[in-house]
Amino acid sequence: MKTVKQPSNPKSHKLHKSLFSHWHETSWIRSKPIRQDAISGLPFSPELVPLASHPLIVADYQRWITVLGYHLLAHLQFTTLLELSHVNPVCSALAQGKAPILLSTQQRNDALKIYCDEGGHALFVEDFSHQVEEAFALNRSVVGRPSFERVMEKIIAENQTQLSSELIKLFFVTISETLVTKVLKNIPHDPEVASVVREVINDHAVDEALHSAYFRNLFPLLWAHLSAYEKEKMIHILPKLVWAFLSPDRQLEYSIIRRLGFNAPDAEDILQEVYIPEQVALSVKQAASPTLKMFEAAGVFNIPSACQIFADYQLI
Ligand SMILES: [Fe+2]
Ligand SMILES: [Fe+2]
Repeated sequence: MKTVKQPSNPKSHKLHKSLFSHWHETSWIRSKPIRQDAISGLPFSPELVPLASHPLIVADYQRWITVLGYHLLAHLQFTTLLELSHVNPVCSALAQGKAPILLSTQQRNDALKIYCDEGGHALFVEDFSHQVEEAFALNRSVVGRPSFERVMEKIIAENQTQLSSELIKLFFVTISETLVTKVLKNIPHDPEVASVVREVINDHAVDEALHSAYFRNLFPLLWAHLSAYEKEKMIHILPKLVWAFLSPDRQLEYSIIRRLGFNAPDAEDILQEVYIPEQVALSVKQAASPTLKMFEAAGVFNIPSACQIFADYQLI
């Protein structure tokens, strides 16, 4: 990414300073242990897994608990990949002043703290993944490449003559870091879930709350810096990035169902019964709500075509 000088925003710098002022005392990597207790309780909240409420799954405890186990393992593996292959390359660029906007020393140092946090997250979720695989007799190969990566590759390929891949990746990370998922929000408070799982996810959630605030401050600066042409192009990409991060991973669900012994047509039938398109769209829209407000506050919807484009993606 090229560094382009731009007047800095003193108000935003002040906010950044207060965000990370207790980082050494509160972040996992600086102050908390690797969680190693035995898993006693559910591996995941059943209400976060639509597949777990399908009659053919509920009827068999072993199937049901295996589905929940795979969802935990998939969440952990998703986290490793997101942190190492997506968030940290962007944080590295921000920390080194290679962003398209000029960042203060404080903002660059905070990006470096996020880089350290994400490395820590990858470390403890990898460690925990082995424990989860063993406890629930899971096979990691069932959890393939997450669908958001395939979507990202497609978006980058479709836009390569108009927008740089670095810019698209920067926007993807900025958006995904502001989308605090239900997994991070709800699991730490679900008493049915094993306490070690709740602790691991809470360690992550506490750090991510800070990251979300950092990227929420960054987004309006990035948006304001885009040229009119780039805004016109990016407006078509933003809803795709939201969907890429929040929509269910059908390939993952299909693989889990096949692993449970169902044949291909039955697996497709189960998926169709579990994922009703209108319900999926509603849940994506609800989960995206804070990020959509961030877009609005940054002036994204001032682009005349924006409302229609977001409506086409059922986001407004
Ligand atoms: Fe993280
Ligand atoms: Fe993060």
